[in-house]
Amino acid sequence: MNPLKILMCSPEFFEVNYSGNEFMKGNIDNVNKEKAMSQWTHLKSVYKDLGYEVVLIEPVKELVDMVFTANQSLPFLDAEGNKKVILSKMKNDQRKNEVKYFKDFYLRRDYAVIELPDEIRYFESMGDCVIDYERNILFGGYGFRTEEKTYDFIANYTDFKIVKLKLINPVLYHLDTCFSIINSDTAVIQKSAFDETGLNSIKDSFKTIIYAEEKENLDYFVCNCHCPDGKNVIVQRGSIKFIEDITKTGLNLIEVETGEFMKSGGSVFCMKIMIY
Ligand code: ARG
Repeated sequence: MNPLKILMCSPEFFEVNYSGNEFMKGNIDNVNKEKAMSQWTHLKSVYKDLGYEVVLIEPVKELVDMVFTANQSLPFLDAEGNKKVILSKMKNDQRKNEVKYFKDFYLRRDYAVIELPDEIRYFESMGDCVIDYERNILFGGYGFRTEEKTYDFIANYTDFKIVKLKLINPVLYHLDTCFSIINSDTAVIQKSAFDETGLNSIKDSFKTIIYAEEKENLDYFVCNCHCPDGKNVIVQRGSIKFIEDITKTGLNLIEVETGEFMKSGGSVFCMKIMIY
């Protein structure tokens, strides 16, 4: 079942003050805080207007990336419909402390919290896991932020069918920077992020694949779009080919501004997580 709540975190303390990925490098101390707040507030209202309940987690001073709520946890329902969550192990030191606040959040909401064993060092949840809820398939990226062997554990804890995808383009460090599921028929990808095996798995999994133009993906994060309901696609404003591709499929496109967050390497998909 598609989760119906959206968890977000206010960018009150958001800034770019370290180089965690290629996008951050040229943007140290370059965030316009007011603009960031208004972009985030507008995105929040888009989800509300689509009928989603938006739940907020308190931002924490010094945790500058906490606004990217896709990355700290992987919430799911078990076969009996119980709420469970696997916690991340963040790769970059600057983000490690975010996870405990999410743990508390889920405990308060009666989730069973699962922590990965010591032998797993890195797992960044829904930065690297993109889920087709209708078919119960979890596409799991690995290579830069998440370790491949994490998926053996996820396979034990959940009943997702898992399709692992190796990431080979270091600029596209999370799966959600190069792969988005529109619905069970259609996915958007940036081809250069995947090896031959990965591309074949993607082709085997979807009837229609929209190939993002490299430059459009870097400039407008089109592969970081989010389609919460199979009908509405939320994406950073400005692309041309992507808009045409989406419009051709008959889906509704909603353009938003996430420019301040793109300076940190994230856009729509990264700024929320769907929870139960
Ligand atoms: N600055 C953050 C990082 O490098 C951006 C995270 C973006 N999130 C995402 N799901 N791609 O960790």
